[in-house]
Amino acid sequence: MLIYHRLGQLPRKRHTQFRKPDGSLFREELMGTEGFSGAQSLLYHHWDPTRLKSSELVRRQPVELLEDDRLEPRHLSSAHFQSSGDPITSRVVLFANAQVNLGLATPNAPMDYFYRNGMADEVIFVHAGGGIVRSVFGNLPFRQGDYIIIPVGTTYQMRCEKDCRLLVVESGGRIQIPRRYRNEFGQLLEHCPYSERDFRLPEKLECIDEMGDFPVIVKMGDALHRVVMDHHPFDVVGWDGRLYPWIFNIGDFEPITGRVHLPPPTHQTFAGDGFVICSFVPRMYDYHPEAVPVPYNHSNVNSDEVLYYVDGDFMSRKGIQTGSFTLHPAGVPHGPHPGTVEASLGKRETRELAVMLDTFLPLRLTKQAAPYLDPSYVRSWIG
Ligand SMILES: [Fe+2]
Repeated sequence: MLIYHRLGQLPRKRHTQFRKPDGSLFREELMGTEGFSGAQSLLYHHWDPTRLKSSELVRRQPVELLEDDRLEPRHLSSAHFQSSGDPITSRVVLFANAQVNLGLATPNAPMDYFYRNGMADEVIFVHAGGGIVRSVFGNLPFRQGDYIIIPVGTTYQMRCEKDCRLLVVESGGRIQIPRRYRNEFGQLLEHCPYSERDFRLPEKLECIDEMGDFPVIVKMGDALHRVVMDHHPFDVVGWDGRLYPWIFNIGDFEPITGRVHLPPPTHQTFAGDGFVICSFVPRMYDYHPEAVPVPYNHSNVNSDEVLYYVDGDFMSRKGIQTGSFTLHPAGVPHGPHPGTVEASLGKRETRELAVMLDTFLPLRLTKQAAPYLDPSYVRSWIG
């Protein structure tokens, strides 16, 4: 995260004696990414975070790819997707490659444990619902339209207070704000479609000094491990740094428009390793008197393009519902559906809301995506 943030109590200088009221020392932890060269925070615990009582492999859950990986546009009619479980176990991976997993979750049960993704940053887009993410860094209340960014290694618990539908991205690399939006000091520039004021940072640090058995499920690759700590993991009295979970709401994305059609990089919201995330939001159409508002055909020669349809009518596609995905793979051109170019002429605005994920390595469908496949989509450009 760009912004230095701090919550709770800290010693005046790092790595110096910091004592509890009874005179004993708080335990310092540096949580950093990319060795000692990435984003990092310093946390002060009541107890050493190394105090594990036990560890066991719960299960392996490898992503199973669909064998039928034909090269054609795909549509998943996933509007009525339903899964069961808590905010972690209800996750269903629908698309995957070596760098990123993408899926959905509709949790219907609470979490009675803590969770840590040991190898991936997570972006959780809240299509519907609301609730709170509690973590060692404090609380983050969330609502519809939020992108919740949870850095790798964060111990957290997610509670849905309304029926939630979540789009879940697991990224092997760090989720970042695109480099071109930042100056050399890390400050967001004027052409960025959002500003620092649009970010919501952790608040209300809960410091729970409690001993007992506290299970943390840790995901490492395709394995889920259960480690039991002898104290509550939210025993942090204070922390500071630039590594922590945060939220950006898609409603705060200010679209950039032009006289003629502007390409998807103008919608870019986040950058991952090997992929980008873009937000298509309600906006004015292009205002050249002869403008064609819907996009031209394009060959995304070396990226696969997934669109997740959140709300409104998507201008260039027919037969798509809220909650659908489309995947347009590299290797075959894609473009607007027949009739949509003509229908767009003279239109002044669009109410579409969609999240796009473009990957630079091919993205494969998983076996769990198969029930939602719409076999008619590939021929829908020839009527
Ligand atoms: Fe496209």
